[in-house]
Amino acid sequence: MRLVLLGPPGAGKGTQAKQLAEKLDLPHVSTGDLLRENVSQDTNLGREAKNFMNRGLLVPDDIVARMLRQRFNHPDVRRGFILDGYPRNLKQAEGLDAILREQDSLLELVVYLDSSDPVIIQRITGRLVCSNCGLSFHRTNMPPKSEGLCDKCGSRLYQRTDDTEETARKRLEVYKKEACALIEYYQEKGILKCLTADAEAAPVLNNILELVKEYDDSHKK
Ligand code: AP5
Repeated sequence: MRLVLLGPPGAGKGTQAKQLAEKLDLPHVSTGDLLRENVSQDTNLGREAKNFMNRGLLVPDDIVARMLRQRFNHPDVRRGFILDGYPRNLKQAEGLDAILREQDSLLELVVYLDSSDPVIIQRITGRLVCSNCGLSFHRTNMPPKSEGLCDKCGSRLYQRTDDTEETARKRLEVYKKEACALIEYYQEKGILKCLTADAEAAPVLNNILELVKEYDDSHKK
């Protein structure tokens, strides 16, 4: 399955992508995570990206495209992937199609997770992330069992520097400028499915798995 999760910041793309990747035994590719890895390792790419990320702006397309291309050169994505955080605009959507064409493959399913603005702001400003394994928690929605520590690996949880209310609102504004064009692009290709993502994480995951099953069933025939 070659699947993209689209949606506003805080809709739950990362949370769902991690679960889906585990259930479907596929690699989870997140451009946000790849960028944050570069920032924490202080690479040239990370230094270039950091200023955009901290202001809630998109990192320039050429930087992200270079990084994604490198990731897609790994053989693990040949059997499928769960991609989250990419594409963010039409140019990136066309870039992704080009990378896949070079590998003789096509995107199969795009799931759009829709969420309302108040839910988004509440989720982003309460998010806590594991400094080691990247698992996301939430101060009230999904609190860790031990305060400040990851349930999975026990490492320290931190708040992302772009998770202030001000930056979250900016990210949402940036997102809304490009969203319609992206949705239309995938609608025209006939591969877009939309879901409401304001519910708890478990039912949202079940709905996505249902869409994957529908896709698989209709392509077996
Ligand atoms: P990125 O990391 O991709 O951030 P984002 O798209 O803004 O999305 P988020 O990670 O904020 O939200 P999410 O939907 O993954 O929500 P999550 O599951 O964590 O990008 C960060 C920055 O990098 C961008 O601003 C940009 O600068 C740059 N960038 C990245 N990709 C780029 C690209 N392609 N081009 C250019 N620049 C790029 O959930 C949020 C919180 O809610 C968590 O605390 C979670 O526990 C909780 N939660 C999740 N689901 C539920 C639920 N159902 N119920 C209750 N709580 C929930």
